[in-house]
Amino acid sequence: APKKLLILPGDGIGPEIMREARRIMDWMAQARGIRFDISEDLVGGASLAVHGQPITQQVIDAARAADAVLFGSVGDPKWASAGFDRRPEIAILKLRQELGLFANLRPAKVFDSLVDASTLKPDVIRGLDIMIVRETVGGIYFGTPRGIETLPDGSRRGINTEVYTTAEIERVARVAFDLARKRDNRVCSVEKCNVMESGLLWKEVVTALHDREYKDVELSHMLADNCAMQMVRNPRQFDVIVTGNLFGDLLSDLASMLTGSLGMLPSATLGAKGEDGRTPALYEPIHGSAPDIAGQGKANPLAQILSFAMLLRYSFDMQEDAAMIEKAVSNVLDRGLRTPDIMSAGRTEVNTAGMGEAVVAE
Ligand code: NAI
Ligand code: MG
Repeated sequence: APKKLLILPGDGIGPEIMREARRIMDWMAQARGIRFDISEDLVGGASLAVHGQPITQQVIDAARAADAVLFGSVGDPKWASAGFDRRPEIAILKLRQELGLFANLRPAKVFDSLVDASTLKPDVIRGLDIMIVRETVGGIYFGTPRGIETLPDGSRRGINTEVYTTAEIERVARVAFDLARKRDNRVCSVEKCNVMESGLLWKEVVTALHDREYKDVELSHMLADNCAMQMVRNPRQFDVIVTGNLFGDLLSDLASMLTGSLGMLPSATLGAKGEDGRTPALYEPIHGSAPDIAGQGKANPLAQILSFAMLLRYSFDMQEDAAMIEKAVSNVLDRGLRTPDIMSAGRTEVNTAGMGEAVVAE
């Protein structure tokens, strides 16, 4: 049976860039006979406008039944003053929660022809291709005790606690080791075991899992502060980095800006493999709905297209097709085509559709 793919374009530039990802799918069907069982639905402000809620139960069920979800972006200033449960952004939070998507994958890959004087240290980032795996449902953002307390003397204190269980560490480490096997076979585990008990357990559990099941993958350990420094000094030393929620939040934002534009960066969030052998997975650009440029044909569709390539590689095990799309993107950039967000002197400016068409042509 063809793989089930749920498409959720969302708001703002979401539908515009999703159209370009669909152009690739149409080409795959026509030129190569590769067909998916595709359905499309509303999320975010688009769903609020029709159903009065940012995501319906029907869409959540469809996401659960799908082999993978390709998501655009949600957020619309029109709903900015709506109550917290009526904000478009709830759609993505709810999907992550309902599908148990605990591992966020953020690749930072540099396309050579985008490296120039305006990017960070060309010598350091040329050829960069790393992947950060961040645990997203545990750690200090969710651990208890938490809250703001008033002490007897009237002063107050804010409390957050980092809690990680063996099972939570193991499942995210597993994602990282499995990914490494599809890449350069190296994992660097990042924590602060020198000052944190949860970090000590993290290191112990990752090491034990490695020695038990992933001896073929090269494992190293690094303290988070050193990792931040190494990421700027020599990021190419890394392949896959696995870390907790807080450090992953910071390190993935840092890594993404090594590569330049927001409009170029895909991401994935994965859950636990179910009894039916399927792993819930959602793929999306890291950027939002960009209301400032929506409807103007200015949006860069490459993050969405590269999210689809990631989906093919990691959910559908279609490595060659994923590589073909990534190579096409790279060729288009080599030819000098640029959407306005990555435009520079001497290059050729194209609009959203022009970029999508050029990728298909390549
Ligand atoms: P944003 O990522 O939407 O935009 C930031 C800046 O980058 C804007 O100037 C925008 O024009 C530009 N930009 C973003 N993507 C681009 C692309 N593909 N091509 C060219 N330029 C691009 O972040 P912002 O403005 O903070 O948030 C806008 C809305 O998106 C908000 O409602 C926010 O909550 C939502 N959002 C949704 C996310 C999601 O769906 N996962 C993630 C981040 C924000
Ligand atoms: Mg962040």
